Amino acid sequence: MGKEKIILDVDPGSDDAIAIAVAGRHPRIELLAITAVAGNQTLGKTAKNALKVCSHLGITGVPIAAGMSHPLVREPITAANVHGESGLDGVELEEPKLDLDPRHAVDLIVEMLSSLSGDINFVATAPLTNLAVALRKKPGIAKKIKRIVMMGGSYGLGNITPAAEFNIYADPEAAHIVFSSGVPIVMMGLDLTHQAVVTQDVIKRVECIDNEASRLFVGLMGFYSTRYRERFGFDGAPLHDPTTLAWLIDPSIVETKAMHVDVELRGEHTYGRTVCDYWCALGKLPNADVGVRLEVERFWDAICEALSFYS
Ligand code: RIB
Ligand code: CA
Repeated sequence: MGKEKIILDVDPGSDDAIAIAVAGRHPRIELLAITAVAGNQTLGKTAKNALKVCSHLGITGVPIAAGMSHPLVREPITAANVHGESGLDGVELEEPKLDLDPRHAVDLIVEMLSSLSGDINFVATAPLTNLAVALRKKPGIAKKIKRIVMMGGSYGLGNITPAAEFNIYADPEAAHIVFSSGVPIVMMGLDLTHQAVVTQDVIKRVECIDNEASRLFVGLMGFYSTRYRERFGFDGAPLHDPTTLAWLIDPSIVETKAMHVDVELRGEHTYGRTVCDYWCALGKLPNADVGVRLEVERFWDAICEALSFYS
């Protein structure tokens, strides 16, 4: 199988950082660009964190651009309670030896999609503001996107409200634009990502890789998992964002189910919920393949293999 070309849209964020690591060296992935957006932390921090992670891991030659600093309509929110004030609490990364691309992320996305032949995956592990604005700025790019592979939403419980998952809740209007764009979508919601828990056994397995990427993983997961134990009573933190890369590397790692997904924009208690028609009750055409079951062992095999490509 050839390489999957991707633009990776992130809000580092501990799990975003591991998604960058997985994409950075994997032989199945061609990382064309990284775009940062406000989400887990403010844009200034998420963009700097993307630079720091790439500089620390020696990921070079990949344009990294800062994008939207605010959601389209709602007031901004962050997830400092989960990722810390820096967005990457748990590690102290050196000042990056890289600079941001001078272009705004939206312009980079539009330029890259317009100039290339349409076989690019847009991988989003953050609020969808950058992609939504790019689709509004140049609607024609929709047919140039091979598929959107995103972490966000759920057909079950939310994590930031009882009904909504953070990436969608942070910019529901942006998510609505993306889910109604007509671009094929693969959605890794919480129902799937909560099967990817970083247990102590996983930590021990990654520690044995013994390189910069594995040490970054262990450092970040220390802080991140403690938050999840305290907040959710989990046995560790779910590695949400890298599930998108794992699917791209080997789609058989995730069982998906075609569903029609709408985003709630008016509900007093359900604002930002992905309303997933699991049983096709409304008979609408599906607009997303939604992750339902993770091949857990093979997922961790893929993550460990991806981290092993670093020195
Ligand atoms: O709800 C989990 C998502 O929100 C992940 O992308 C995590 O990084 C945070 O952005
Ligand atoms: Ca994220």
